[in-house]
Amino acid sequence: PASPARAGGGGGPLVIAHRGASAYAPENTLAAVDKAAELGIRWVENDVQRTRDGELVVLHDDNLRRTTDVEEVYPDRAPWKVRDFTAAEIARLDAGSWFGPAYAGARVPTLEQFVDRVERHHQKLLLEIKNPELYPGIERQTLKVLSNEGWLDRSHLAGRLIVQSFSADSVRTVHELKPAVKTGFLGTPPVSDLPGYAGFADQINPSYGSLSTAYVASVQAFTGPHGRPLEVFTWTVDDAATAQRVAGYGVDGIITNKPDVVREAVDG
Ligand code: G3P
Ligand code: CA
Repeated sequence: PASPARAGGGGGPLVIAHRGASAYAPENTLAAVDKAAELGIRWVENDVQRTRDGELVVLHDDNLRRTTDVEEVYPDRAPWKVRDFTAAEIARLDAGSWFGPAYAGARVPTLEQFVDRVERHHQKLLLEIKNPELYPGIERQTLKVLSNEGWLDRSHLAGRLIVQSFSADSVRTVHELKPAVKTGFLGTPPVSDLPGYAGFADQINPSYGSLSTAYVASVQAFTGPHGRPLEVFTWTVDDAATAQRVAGYGVDGIITNKPDVVREAVDG
């Protein structure tokens, strides 16, 4: 039977708004979460980094230049790494103007602010721990924020939260610290390595370019740490033809900057 959790109520893969609905609003901002909600998208992906004074903030790059006006505001602070700025300094930056004048004044959200907004829309969160090698202890800290925000209760754990990373060590750490949290490994490990991953990851999340029906089936044949088949969420698919192709491979989720386009392609 079709799962009600699927996009649009159909039987296709879940649709996850990458960095929010980031084709239509500046990535990883509250506006991008709002845009996903407006489009009726239930799942939002984000990226987590850490400031100099130890605050978790939502930003893709470990550097503030691409998505804020940091070079204008702090011209003498090259190379403008997130970890060299305090949370208060980052809070002054404009994270929207680069995308378009309509978003002037959008801020780099803290993880708390981001999670609050996702909660307000009753959405679900695919949280990516970025560059964990730069931020010792970020796994424990991320879990603490999620716990403080009420996201480690039974209802969130049961289907509203996944924590993923390109770092297998980071994913394993999250699993060991809080085994009830669903986790994902970003990458395409060889099938022979999957038994190891299945000890701590519920998902294997590859770039769509490296996917095939056979690979998806191989992953899904393994049982994850919670006794269910491993899942596959693939990224980042923004056109209808590719969305239909990867849906045909049997993926469980598609991570996209254009969630409306992908939903229409797979459910429409
Ligand atoms: O969610 C998967 C995807 O976000 C991984 O790549 O670079 O966009 O964080 P990236
Ligand atoms: Ca990401």
